[in-house]
Amino acid sequence: MFTFYLRTYGCQMNERDSEALSCLLSAHGHQEVEEESAADLLLFNTCSVREQAELKVLGKIGLLKRAKRGRPELKIGLIGCMGQRLGAELFALLPHLDFVVGSDQLREIPGILERIAAGERHIAVTALGGDDFMRLSEHKGADLCSYISIIQGCNQFCSYCIVPHTRGRERSRDMADIVREVKQQVERGSREILLLGQNITAYGIAEAKRAGHYDPEASYLAELLARLEEIEGLWRIRFTSPHVRYMNDKFIQAICGLSKVCKAFHIPVQSGSNRILKAMNRGYTLEEYVHRVRQIKSLASEAQFSTDIIVGFPGETVAEFEQTLELMREIKYDMAYIFRYSTRSGTKAAENMRDDVSEEEKKRRNQVLLEELNQTVEKRNHAYIGQSLEVLVEGQSKRNEERWTGRSQLNKVVNFPWVESLNIGELRQVKILRSSANSLYGEIVE
Ligand code: 5AD
Ligand code: SF4
Repeated sequence: MFTFYLRTYGCQMNERDSEALSCLLSAHGHQEVEEESAADLLLFNTCSVREQAELKVLGKIGLLKRAKRGRPELKIGLIGCMGQRLGAELFALLPHLDFVVGSDQLREIPGILERIAAGERHIAVTALGGDDFMRLSEHKGADLCSYISIIQGCNQFCSYCIVPHTRGRERSRDMADIVREVKQQVERGSREILLLGQNITAYGIAEAKRAGHYDPEASYLAELLARLEEIEGLWRIRFTSPHVRYMNDKFIQAICGLSKVCKAFHIPVQSGSNRILKAMNRGYTLEEYVHRVRQIKSLASEAQFSTDIIVGFPGETVAEFEQTLELMREIKYDMAYIFRYSTRSGTKAAENMRDDVSEEEKKRRNQVLLEELNQTVEKRNHAYIGQSLEVLVEGQSKRNEERWTGRSQLNKVVNFPWVESLNIGELRQVKILRSSANSLYGEIVE
């Protein structure tokens, strides 16, 4: 039996995979520890989305070579997207690595550990298309917010993106399984759920097509949301990430009409230029994107938006970049993750396009968008002063023990003075008295 330390890089899907893996290993008698130094097995759940993310992991595991020389019994495993992408190649770069497992074979790990304990080395398991994520539904406990993976993989093949190569084709879980998992978490004390999938709006589509009853006007995600809305004791439903190409009116009506669905929507746009969107193979135009945002706003006027943007995609001119800036000024995002384009070998963009925007220029474009974002968010936060918000109480503030912290429906962090008669997981009205760049401050109103 091992004592293991598990570190997660990358997206929320990876965090959820790690949680499920940790439950699986515990069920097999292994014991998780919080400190790397207390473990005899180190596991790294990795991300391949940008080169930087991979270099970080290679650096980290590279540094463990010496530790392992001093402690030969120490075992090291690399799992997740990098394992999927690079497989056994990793043993050439990191000879002290014991095993590599891809994103779809997590259930193999207990068996691999037995082989490792028996003295085997350099085991690589990277077949794609497993159903692990459908079967791994255990949670460590009852976090106030539970992460629930509902669809895995991606069929869109955006030209810059490694995800279809690391996570494979779209596979959705059964609605009844998801409902059961959510109910169980709510019974244990969860009040919020975050539904996860690389392209969550494709939920159920591949299965419906295979069964011959696919209806482009239906939204299987909308049906799922409606069923989750019925669960008593569940207060908030979030989901990430939707894709504009897969949005239809049914979906928009559901997310705007269901009261538990939080009206803060993360809708990746990637670029404000139609030529770049096409080169990215996004499958929508800027006009279609803006149309969906406006449609949501018309049905739920309080809705707020966040997004993902890539700057410096191959061939992006200054004028095209400025169209992205224009879009940000129009939508007034509440939050945006802005990335510098990173070439991922195996993708269409890596094969056919030259990474011709200099690193310096990518940094500049990134900075310009960040400044625009910060200004908007600061103004928006300031506008909350005087308003009363419904806050889900999350716990003591980490920065200041005399404060509670929680989040509003629209995902704003709200801090307010400590009162004894309050419990984690309660909903309270908080009147906002002041704001900062990142959070709001207020007091409970009775
Ligand atoms: N370079 C930069 N950013 C990327 N993303 C995905 N692939 C790349 C890449 N090759 C970004 C996209 C995506 C987010 C998860 O990561 O914006 O939405
Ligand atoms: Fe990174 Fe994408 Fe894999 Fe998540 S799915 S870990 S973002 S490469």
